[in-house]
Formats: sequence, structure tokens, C-alpha cells
Amino acid sequence: MEGIRNFFDGNKKSVFLLLGLIISIYSISELSVESILGVLKIIMYSVISFTVFCVGHFIIKAEKEILSDKKNAKEKGTEESNNKSLILFNTIKSKNMYYNERENESIRKLISLLSEENYREIQKRLDERKMRNGFTCLFIGGPGTGKTETAYQIARLTGRNIMAVDIAETKSMWFGESERKIKETFDTYREAVNNSKITPILLFNEADGVISKRLELNSSSRAIDRAENGIQNIILQEIENLTGILIATTNLAQNMDKAFERRFLYRINFDMPCEQGRKSIWNTLLPELPVELVTDLSGKFDLSGGQIENIARKINIDTILTGCVTKDTMMQYCEDEIQSSFITPKRIGFEAEAFLSA
Ligand SMILES: Nc1ncnc2c1ncn2[C@@H]1O[C@H](COP(=O)(O)OP(=O)(O)O)[C@@H](O)[C@H]1O
Ligand SMILES: [Mg+2]
Repeated sequence: MEGIRNFFDGNKKSVFLLLGLIISIYSISELSVESILGVLKIIMYSVISFTVFCVGHFIIKAEKEILSDKKNAKEKGTEESNNKSLILFNTIKSKNMYYNERENESIRKLISLLSEENYREIQKRLDERKMRNGFTCLFIGGPGTGKTETAYQIARLTGRNIMAVDIAETKSMWFGESERKIKETFDTYREAVNNSKITPILLFNEADGVISKRLELNSSSRAIDRAENGIQNIILQEIENLTGILIATTNLAQNMDKAFERRFLYRINFDMPCEQGRKSIWNTLLPELPVELVTDLSGKFDLSGGQIENIARKINIDTILTGCVTKDTMMQYCEDEIQSSFITPKRIGFEAEAFLSA
């Protein structure tokens, strides 16, 4: 008895298999030939249907993969084409900017208003009160006073990407398919606002051509003037209906179209830096300069941040080439910058052409 139990414990699987086999043989022997054929048929149809199911499953899976590949490629494509003008906030380098007291206050306020928490609150409130919720800012100031850089730093600090509109490109379109293109720009921005968690900034850099006074048209007006006015009217309308954040920068203090002036909620005037500001900019850009030299340069030359940056670049290049730069050379560079600022061409378009053909 003990021996049988041991055998059973050691060969449990085989015993059950054997039992199953005996029962199957017995039941098959009890079946008629027709029933056996019936069972075989059922098995055959099951195998066929399983095969069909598997083939179908693989076809659907492959199709899905192809579609998703196509979708990814398409998405990548649109992103790339939009990326032409999209600047991601986390790619903007931090820069120390120095402002005069009044500017500083306005810029701090703007950064605070555009911080996500405050911005959402503002949007909510304006929506509740059925007010237009577009956040429009205009930075006015001479060249090199830090308007564009400030827009970039605001984007960086508030975590917002920038959709930059190339005004020179827009201008060249005025004589062609301009209206469609400008509408397209605003449509793309609208889409970006709808698809982004954090509202991006629409940047109209050097928007002089866009916001300057519209021409008075009469029956003898040129087609070009009509086209320019047409574009400005579209932009006015789009700004009026804007949902999102627009920052426009301009050198134009006068000759701004009144209708545009009204549409900017915040206007910040960028002045030339004061002596203390110039000192800080010199120190930031060329930290190795001795204190007395910085004091001297800042006191003597009324330069903008952009001009100081140009000089700092030249000094850095000279240092690489010659090992050192004398005080006289630096003074000369400052003189040159001041001189060149007096011969700034009036129209940006012409300047670009002259530069290209030179
Ligand atoms: N207020 C400033 N503080 C520090 N750097 C400045 C300032 N203004 C201009 N700069 C320097 O000059 C560069 C060019 O300025 P930018 O913003 O292009 O001038 P704008 O757009 O007014 O012509 C900046 O990248 C920065 O290095
Ligand atoms: Mg600029």
C-alpha cells in the first residue's frame, strides 16, 4: 500500500494523463463515425476561424502603426514649419538687464502680471466682465535700448514661448499675397494659444512699418499705399480680437497711428541708460575691465546697451587676435559707435538692401 502511494505521489501528472487518455479512448469508441467526423469538422472550422482572426488582427495592427507613423511625421512637419518662428522659453539665455528706475518698475509689474497665476486670474476676470482679454504691450525706444532682449527675458521668466513675426518679411509680402499671410500668422498664433497650456507671446519685433500712421487714401492713391493700409487695417482688427499676449517693439516715438496707440494696454518707454546703468552694462559684458576704466568710459560716452555690446564684442575679438586692447582703442571704438548712430538710415528696408548689395 505504501509503495502504491509513493508511486502515485511521484507520478501524479502521468497518472492523470493516463486516466484522461483511457476516458477519451473509451468515449471515442462509443461515438459513431458521423459524430467523430462532426467533431473533426468543428476542430477544423475552429482552426480556420482562429487563423482568419489572427490575420485580421495583424492587418489592423499594421494599418494602425502605418497611420500613427504618418501622423507623427505630419505633426513633426507642422511643428518644424511653425518652429521657424517659435522660440522656446527654455532656450533663452538669462541676461542681466539694467533699466532706469521708471522702466524697471514697469517691467517688474509686467513680469508679475504675466506670471501664469496672475495672468489666469486676469483672463478670468476680464472674461467674467465680458471685456476683451487680449494682453497687448508696446515697447518704444531708440535702437539698442533693450526692447527685444526685454521681451525675451520676460518670456524666459514667465515660461512662455515666443512666436516671432518677421516684420521685414511681412513688409515684403505687402506687395503680394500679404493679406492672406498676415491672417495666417494670427491663425497660427490662435491655434498655438488653444493648444498650449501656457499662452505663448506673439512678438512683433521692429513693428514700425505696421504701426506707423496709415496713409490718407484718395482716388489717385497708388495700389501699394492701398495694400499697406489694407494690411494695417487687418492687423488692427486682429489686435482688437486678440486672445493672448502681444508684444510689439518699435523705435517710432512719433508718427504712430492713433488707432494702434489705443490698442496697446501697456506701453513702456525705453530710455538710454543713465551713467550708473552704463557702468553696470560695461561691468556685465566685460567684467575684467578695471574700475577706473569703466568709470571713465561710462562718464564720457552716452551709449546704449546695444552699442556697449557691439564694442564689447570688438574688444573680445581683438583680445583673441592681439592678446590685449589699449584704452585708446576702446575710446576709439566708443567714438565710432557714437558716430555711426548719427547715420542710421531712416527706413529699415533700405538699410537691409544696402547691406545686402554692399
Ligand atoms: N538695458 C540694458 N541692460 C543690459 N544690456 C542691454 C540693455 N539694453 C541693451 N542691452 C544689450 O544690447 C543688446 C541688444 O539690445 P536689443 O534688445 O536688441 O535692443 P533693441 O531691441 O532695443 O534695439 C542686448 O542683447 C543686451 O546685451
Ligand atoms: Mg530690437
